[in-house]
Amino acid sequence: MRLQATLCLFLQLLFELSSCTHLRVMPGSTLELPCLSIQTEFTDAAITWKFNGKEINAQSPGSTTLKKDGLYLAISPVTAADEGDYVCLAKETDVEMIRTYFITVVATIVYTIKINEGSNVHLPCHFPSSSQVTANALWYKETGVGMMTRLNFGDGSTGDDEKVEQLYPMDHDQSILLRRTAMEDAGTYYCQSAEGDKLSTVNIIVEVPPTTTPFSCNSFTTAWEPCLDENSRTGEPMLQESITEFSMKLYSYLKESQPSSNLLFSPISISGILSHLLLGARGDTRRAIERAVCVPHDFHCVHFQLKKLKEKLASSLQMASQIYYNPQINLTESFTNQSIQFYEVEPVKLLESSEENTQMINNWVANKTNNKIKHLVDSVSPSTQLIMLDAVSFSGQWMVKFDPKPKKGFFAKLDGDLKKVPLLYQNNYMLVTAHVVELKAQVARFALTGDSSLYILLPPSNTVSDLQQVEERMTDTAVRQMIELLKTRSPEKVEVTLPQIKLDVQPDMHILIKKLGLLSLLEGSNLCGLYSEDMLVLDDVRHRAFLALTDKGVEAGAITLASFSRSFPSFSALRPFVMLLWSDQANVPLFIGRVTDP
Ligand SMILES: *[C@@H]1O[C@H](CO)[C@@H](O)[C@H](O)[C@H]1NC(C)=O
Ligand SMILES: *[C@@H]1O[C@H](CO)[C@@H](O)[C@H](O)[C@H]1NC(C)=O
Ligand SMILES: *[C@@H]1O[C@H](CO)[C@@H](O)[C@H](O)[C@H]1NC(C)=O
Repeated sequence: MRLQATLCLFLQLLFELSSCTHLRVMPGSTLELPCLSIQTEFTDAAITWKFNGKEINAQSPGSTTLKKDGLYLAISPVTAADEGDYVCLAKETDVEMIRTYFITVVATIVYTIKINEGSNVHLPCHFPSSSQVTANALWYKETGVGMMTRLNFGDGSTGDDEKVEQLYPMDHDQSILLRRTAMEDAGTYYCQSAEGDKLSTVNIIVEVPPTTTPFSCNSFTTAWEPCLDENSRTGEPMLQESITEFSMKLYSYLKESQPSSNLLFSPISISGILSHLLLGARGDTRRAIERAVCVPHDFHCVHFQLKKLKEKLASSLQMASQIYYNPQINLTESFTNQSIQFYEVEPVKLLESSEENTQMINNWVANKTNNKIKHLVDSVSPSTQLIMLDAVSFSGQWMVKFDPKPKKGFFAKLDGDLKKVPLLYQNNYMLVTAHVVELKAQVARFALTGDSSLYILLPPSNTVSDLQQVEERMTDTAVRQMIELLKTRSPEKVEVTLPQIKLDVQPDMHILIKKLGLLSLLEGSNLCGLYSEDMLVLDDVRHRAFLALTDKGVEAGAITLASFSRSFPSFSALRPFVMLLWSDQANVPLFIGRVTDP
């Protein structure tokens, strides 16, 4: 089982494919070929690149350069001499992966994956990021010379038992998951678009696994390492960066799975629960969560820093966590102690009946969200072993007030329809605005009490493509630069119109967990630091976020991000926009959302 988790994690890491692989290569252009498919600065894998069979190293002549220990191969400028095949070999203890790029006129990707019998494997396939996804790709298996069989698969809706699952229907990522590989699953698989364009070829080699030992917590029973340098000056910025990077990653995943609806989530709450879980995670599961929340492996102070961050945020954001556990399991003493120390949570035993537990949990949720969310679960299964909760509640008032007279106006939706909405209006609002070229948006910063701000990022028009352009540019670096830029500007008198909104959104956490590389949590994870008698399997994840913009301020939290030009005398957010609710004090995002239908 442990072996399987390793494979799963590693393959997941490899298959979050970036977009730059399906290219028409022109002489003179610049190519950057990723070896792994997520953007990472670190990996355990040993990486080697070959060009037409010859190893590429620092001394190689021509226009190729290895970047970041081989994580990327750059070719600049591309010449006819660069035509050929580029092979990247990434090797880890249990698995090796070969990624091949044939650079001719059109590059096609061929993957070769070696896998142990019985493990799960991801078969990667991606539409080019510039294209629109109008239909799912089709997958075929070669069953003989020139013979193909179409693969049929479920969409995950019937649970995690399907042999072949399409991981992200209607997404750019058309990868599938093949569970419990058997010897007869070996062979060549093809992924192509409905129009017949070849997207990827995957060769699966199935090997007999070395004898595996059954899962046991024996070597994983130590407590989370102590934070030796509590006064370190790097700890705090490291956590801020991790949270921001994680937040933008979540937004990019969610925008893709929900391309045009309202969107809202609290990254700080999701990262809070994953960090709390991290406290009890060991081995591969620990590595997977660390990667997911973007913290380095040796950052032992993460829990301590998170506690400090929560204290800093306390004036504007109330955060609370809770753990309920089945009285039949024993949580480890070290986890319970550290949970109290860092998360102020003393785990509580679940009660006898599902009704009592449902009520207990919903009451806790209502209490911690100031009754903004009164209902989260419908039932609690008797097989439930552990429930972790994390709640945040935000309330901030506008530093500059809006006109209290009620007013109405029209919001232009993505489809062009106009919707009559109540407005927040002020013809003389002191507002910081900027046109942020890097984000292709007009941005406004609305100061709130509690040392927070609402940023609204307004695309140039109400079209889907303009909204997508802004969203694609919203990397953590771009957002940080935007925030720094707006800090340097002074407020000016602007006529402001905002829609009054009330969002209540439940993003699909199942997809998010998979995209974060945490699929292994759903299939059996190493939480030995928390409970050392057996494996625990994640069976339900949810997130629900609520946000209201009223004439008083922002309730419950959402980040509004907008870009304003100094030369624009008005700022009217009566078309779809993106928002960020930001703690200026702790310098991290609290909520992120998108409004397309107020
Ligand atoms: C939990 O701990 C108690 C006391 O140490 C022990 O008697 C019991 O068997 C443990 N439960 C399980 C499920 O191992
Ligand atoms: C947990 O805390 C209790 C009380 O503070 C202490 O007696 C015990 O030794 C601690 N256990 C561990 C494993 O740290
Ligand atoms: C939450 O519970 C505490 C303690 O029982 C209580 O004092 C507080 O008023 C409750 N808050 C809400 C919003 O119900």
